[in-house]
Amino acid sequence: MDGTHRPSPLCFLRLMDDSHFPQHIAIIMDGNGRWAAQRGLPRLLGHRAGADAVTRVTEAACELGISALTLYAFSWENWDRPAQEIRDLMRLLDEFLLSQAPTLRRQRIRLRAIGRLEALPDGVRRHLQAMVDETAGFDRMTLALALSYGGRQEIVDAARRLAQAAREGRLDPSQIDEEQFRRQLYCPELPDPDLLIRTSGEQRISNFLLWQISYCELYVTPTCWPDFTKAELQEAIAAYQKRDRRFGRTASHGAARSNGQAPPRSCAPAAGA
Ligand code: FPP
Repeated sequence: MDGTHRPSPLCFLRLMDDSHFPQHIAIIMDGNGRWAAQRGLPRLLGHRAGADAVTRVTEAACELGISALTLYAFSWENWDRPAQEIRDLMRLLDEFLLSQAPTLRRQRIRLRAIGRLEALPDGVRRHLQAMVDETAGFDRMTLALALSYGGRQEIVDAARRLAQAAREGRLDPSQIDEEQFRRQLYCPELPDPDLLIRTSGEQRISNFLLWQISYCELYVTPTCWPDFTKAELQEAIAAYQKRDRRFGRTASHGAARSNGQAPPRSCAPAAGA
């Protein structure tokens, strides 16, 4: 890689029809354990192969011109896994952060982290913060790692911040609207995901980005995460491009907006029109 951006055929599709190219892709990276079990390997090796897939897919997303990629790397509920597996995952995460620095610099990828980060081990938190600070000025793509993350917990944390502001007299509760609430989320500068991919076949959301995915397109593949490739990512994008996003409207009034958000109510046609 020399850092030069070479447009793939998908990028040409994007130039033709920007509103049908996902800006923000979120991925539930599932199936590391099953991938390992199918090969008679310990789970740790499945997670290691999963970490390699994170590197591969991040580079692929960048090359395809995706603006933001959010990866579900460790859920709030994952804290209930056996202590040894948690230690393994935290060590892998730490290794990943240390080893990814050159790639993030070369590709000009901005790293962000979402979740209850205060629950992470000190060392991981320090390395994470260092990478987030170092890459803050990069603008080719944002890679958001969801760590110690839960969608319900994010909503509860946002509600707590609003309640605190109201208690201190800085906020009138009657002024709280969707936009005000959204600004309290962990990474409000990211647009809502357009496409949510889940690997390894399960058809559930697992407490991921509950607020942000209200009109997201879903794509489930049977492939276990360690086997997920750039070609599969391209397939998911191609499937997305065939979807008709209506944001609750009729086909004639439901033109998708390139930022993935539903049009504001004020644009709605009058009832009966
Ligand atoms: C699901 O596999 C995956 C996770 C618990 C989190 C994803 C972790 C990685 C991709 C590795 C490390 C991440 C980074 C960012 C370095 P599972 O254990 O639930 O699989 P199973 O459902 O087949 O048991």
